[in-house]
Amino acid sequence: MKDLYDNEVSTKSDKTIDAINRFTTSLVGYGTDFGVIFEASDEDPDCAIAATLSGILGLFLETPDRLEIADTYFNRALTAAPAATEREQLLVEAMWSSRQGDLEKSLGCFRKLAKLYPNDLLSAKMGQTHYFNLGDDEGMLWLADQVMEAHQGTAFAHGMRAFGLEQTSQLEKAEEEARLATQMQRAEPWAHHAAAHVMVTQGRHEEGIQWMRDLSNEWDYCNSFMYTHNWWHLALFHLEREEFDEALRIYDTHVWGRDKTYSQDQINAISLLWRMEMAGADVGGRWEDVANFVADRSFVLDQPFLDMQYVFALARGGKTLELNNLLAGMEMMEMDAPKMTRAVWEHVATPASHAFVAFANEDYARAEELLLPAREKMQSIGGSHAQRDLFEQVWIHSLIRQNKMKEALKILEARVAFRKAPALDLHLYQQVKAAAA
Ligand SMILES: [Fe+2]
Repeated sequence: MKDLYDNEVSTKSDKTIDAINRFTTSLVGYGTDFGVIFEASDEDPDCAIAATLSGILGLFLETPDRLEIADTYFNRALTAAPAATEREQLLVEAMWSSRQGDLEKSLGCFRKLAKLYPNDLLSAKMGQTHYFNLGDDEGMLWLADQVMEAHQGTAFAHGMRAFGLEQTSQLEKAEEEARLATQMQRAEPWAHHAAAHVMVTQGRHEEGIQWMRDLSNEWDYCNSFMYTHNWWHLALFHLEREEFDEALRIYDTHVWGRDKTYSQDQINAISLLWRMEMAGADVGGRWEDVANFVADRSFVLDQPFLDMQYVFALARGGKTLELNNLLAGMEMMEMDAPKMTRAVWEHVATPASHAFVAFANEDYARAEELLLPAREKMQSIGGSHAQRDLFEQVWIHSLIRQNKMKEALKILEARVAFRKAPALDLHLYQQVKAAAA
């Protein structure tokens, strides 16, 4: 049978196809209709794709039994694979290699899938997520480029390409793709997001507010990552304009509260509170609630980019026991992580995390010392340029708070020159310039 993008699927069940289609649309469109895949796979255990997607859903869960659930379905997929098509076998192999920590092999499979089966948008999206977590922007764009010819009429594909273009600093082309995707289909939240990245990078904050606010009614159906992240971007524009009250209002109504147990909700909250405090805003008692939820996490030590921010929330919220456990776990990742990311944990994530603890404790000299070698390799922890800018701001404030004004000024000068209307940076630049004189 065939799925919604005309990919062959080894099944005889309409129900399986329906579940695969709903899962695919939810994945590329940031929806919520994933759960149907479990039942479909249970009723059709010979379908390798349904089993693999169920394994992926297992990995998305953040419950203590997530790996157990994922492995049940991945094992089912491995059993079904010999009778499956080449495309299906490649997706099984891509996900199973990833699960086993062989990221090189997994990425090889995703590249092959994109090249040989460009109709398979879901695999390209999964591959992009892998590249995103490794900070490999070129890889992310390459995957999107392979599937574009087959998906000229698919708004989600244009959104995927738009973000790849933005992350590789092709800002004008990125905005064009993002606007095209949004014209094709207004409910394309990833395209809204890609354009927001372009606008924040160029310092077009007023335009960013209009763009995102106009489209914000399209995010209500999104999963909690996309919902809170797009609102986070809108709050960021207000923060950049030093409209702290509005940024905090968005935090309270849209960024923090959708699913407080979920990693990405927590990251958006931490990142916003941290930036606001550095900008001089009073965030009141908001850290406490975030730190409580971070302290309750059982699922950590997966992405360095996430753990580095959990660390700050725990430090800022006074959760010493949980903080020390997380830091000890991060040190173990120097040996336990997939081979491809061990150096990232050792040389970037762990020292930077200790720097953030020092920053929380107002020991800015120590923060600077620990952050110095990590700073140059920050891209390797994954996340987007806009997200990682948080760590650059920590660096700048570590300098300022030690009165190293000339060093801070040099960085701020470049930031102000690059952006159109950088109110926050400009204000900081003027303060530091006056102090340095
Ligand atoms: Fe983003």
